[in-house]
Amino acid sequence: MKIFLFLSFLCIASLLQAQDKIILADPEFITGNNDHWKDISFDDSKWKTIRPNILWEPQGYPDYNGYAWYRFHFRLPSSLKDNSFLKDSLRIFLAKIDDADETFLNGEKIGATGSMPEDKEGYIGAYNVTREYHVATASKFLRWDKENVLAVKVYDGGGGGGMYGGHPYIDMIDIIDAISLTLQHAVEKNEVSVIITNQLGININGNLHLQIKDRKNNRTILNKNISLVLSPLKSAYKNIEVPEGEMELSISFKEKNTGKIKSLVYVMPYILTPLPGDVPRINGAKIFGVRPGSPFLFKIPVTGKKPLLYHVDNLPAGLQVDAATGIITGTLSNRGEYKTQVTVTNNAGKAAREFTIIVGEHLSLTPPMGWNSWNCWGLSVSAEKVKSSAQALIDKGLADHGWSFMNIDDGWEAEKRSADSSIYANEKFPDMKDLGNWLHAKGLKFGIYSSPGTQTCGGYSGSYKNEVSDANTYSGWGIDYLKYDWCSYDEVYKKEGDTTLAAYMKPYRVMQQALKIQPRDINYSLCQYGMKDVWKWGNQVSGNSWRTTGDIEDTWESLSSIGFNQDKLFSYAAPGHWNDPDMLIVGQVGWGKPHPTRLTPDEQYTHISLWCLLSSPLLIGCDISKLDDFTLNLLSNDEVLAVNQDVLGKQARRIKRTATYQIWLKELEDGSKAIGIFNLGETYQTVSVNWHEFGISDNEKVRDLWRQKDLGFFKNNFISNVAPHGVKFIKIWK
Ligand code: GLA
Repeated sequence: MKIFLFLSFLCIASLLQAQDKIILADPEFITGNNDHWKDISFDDSKWKTIRPNILWEPQGYPDYNGYAWYRFHFRLPSSLKDNSFLKDSLRIFLAKIDDADETFLNGEKIGATGSMPEDKEGYIGAYNVTREYHVATASKFLRWDKENVLAVKVYDGGGGGGMYGGHPYIDMIDIIDAISLTLQHAVEKNEVSVIITNQLGININGNLHLQIKDRKNNRTILNKNISLVLSPLKSAYKNIEVPEGEMELSISFKEKNTGKIKSLVYVMPYILTPLPGDVPRINGAKIFGVRPGSPFLFKIPVTGKKPLLYHVDNLPAGLQVDAATGIITGTLSNRGEYKTQVTVTNNAGKAAREFTIIVGEHLSLTPPMGWNSWNCWGLSVSAEKVKSSAQALIDKGLADHGWSFMNIDDGWEAEKRSADSSIYANEKFPDMKDLGNWLHAKGLKFGIYSSPGTQTCGGYSGSYKNEVSDANTYSGWGIDYLKYDWCSYDEVYKKEGDTTLAAYMKPYRVMQQALKIQPRDINYSLCQYGMKDVWKWGNQVSGNSWRTTGDIEDTWESLSSIGFNQDKLFSYAAPGHWNDPDMLIVGQVGWGKPHPTRLTPDEQYTHISLWCLLSSPLLIGCDISKLDDFTLNLLSNDEVLAVNQDVLGKQARRIKRTATYQIWLKELEDGSKAIGIFNLGETYQTVSVNWHEFGISDNEKVRDLWRQKDLGFFKNNFISNVAPHGVKFIKIWK
């Protein structure tokens, strides 16, 4: 299969000199709303300052939803214009804003994204949209060489609130902005094409610099300068052969007139996970919870040469296993713990392992593993898309590593309910029950999404006042998992005027009761972005997992700010209920417009390693039918996944944090420990894990989990060289 990665939008970073850019820092900040706060003359000296690259809630405004204003004071030097080749427009870059904004420069409105509750359209959030407003340099309200005030009015409809996702700045739109650098990578050929496009109607002259470095030994393999004249509206192409290994490619274009540079760095995807062998290997959860009387469905995940023959000893009466597929079905009426022995054989050998079934009240005894439509398809999900990812989950072998849930997120619901108020699906899902049967026959689980409000976040029917009816409908369709997303419940909550914790918990309690009376098990996933410390009470409403943050996206900023901020929650994770830092962002993601993830290969290794250490639910967020070999390598490493599925169910703790690296440790059932050594810096770092610092005894045996390779005994410490934004993921034991 040919896989091309189009990377133009991935890692382009403009290397502008400091004097070409005004960094907008330390704004004055206040909650509330007043039209005068846009005026340049307004005195904001009594306001507090805030960081404009991090949401306001973690900065001393917990649970604050509603209006707030930021005011940035800055000098606008005319040298900014003088140093620019093109002199027409200023760019005001604000990164992202949760949820809607109106932005004013010296009192004049220069842009708005989303809309405010008082607007004609009513409130429309746009938390995920990058704000970049342009202002003509001829505008009368600009105050060159004097103080200017940029005022940003924000309305937060729920969640973290405010500016985030990057550092705001102002610069000139220049000739370098007309250059796009695109990289096309035919993975299996190890060849990269660089495409340099001139989007202006004039010639652009400059120098293209190409460099390839072997990251293992820091050796430069290629270092080449090419002088280019780019014709108007034309592209130039350069093909580069890249040798095997951990290669890093740096490409930059320096425009001749201004000396401004556009550049990108691309790390070639490198595969660490060894391919599974022919001999059977039993993977996935070693324990499974079911309620008495509920339909039982579990497919034993096994790698190895097909055909495989499955056998289970001591399977309790009421259950049967299909010898050819390894799917266990049936029902169990008596509570208790049942220890079974699974044996799988093929013509290359045999594997055996214990598998425990607990009949009681608890589901999700290990974190759920599966797929969810949102990060890939957004609201454009359809039954066809679910089926094609499900089929690929099986065909590409992911089901053999324990991936089983196929969860439809928002976008499946019909606009209106039926006359008797029942929920039904829109035309993209012609037959939900049939889809459920189709998934179950393959040993897969079926998940769905709703909101306790009148509407979901995507504007579809929510379950408000229809909770029991909806739960009954889900049950009839064979649903195994419900993600229940706060969204418009904020309106109900505000109308009721009760701000107690009980009022926050109420909608989740109502659905808890509705699910409890169903004749099947439905995993309950709470989604309300971590409000009111949900980890402290999610268990009381029978949540099997709870989102601890706002929505993730496929950037290092988003991944690292979410993932590395979960340390305080470690004690709330346990078998049956898990902290959920949101779904995976590897592979083809894009919320309706799929593109290759913008994370570098190292960042993707960090993502999967950290989510496994955090005992987080693992929900693949990409189009599995387009899975490339690198992403498959990330999702099919059984030793890495075993850290996530460990039956002890502990969440890792951060045991060391410096400005540039962190060490996280998770205790495992067999007495061993999984350790993630994460480099949060921009250059390679040598990090030493000193056993005595962490109460670990001398002489530990170390295994590299990604490479599945023993590294030997280490007496006092383990020293490793970790790639920028990358990880060394090891297991240690006596
Ligand atoms: C919220 C959730 C997302 C997704 C969307 C669907 O933003 O946090 O995970 O479910 O709603 O509209």
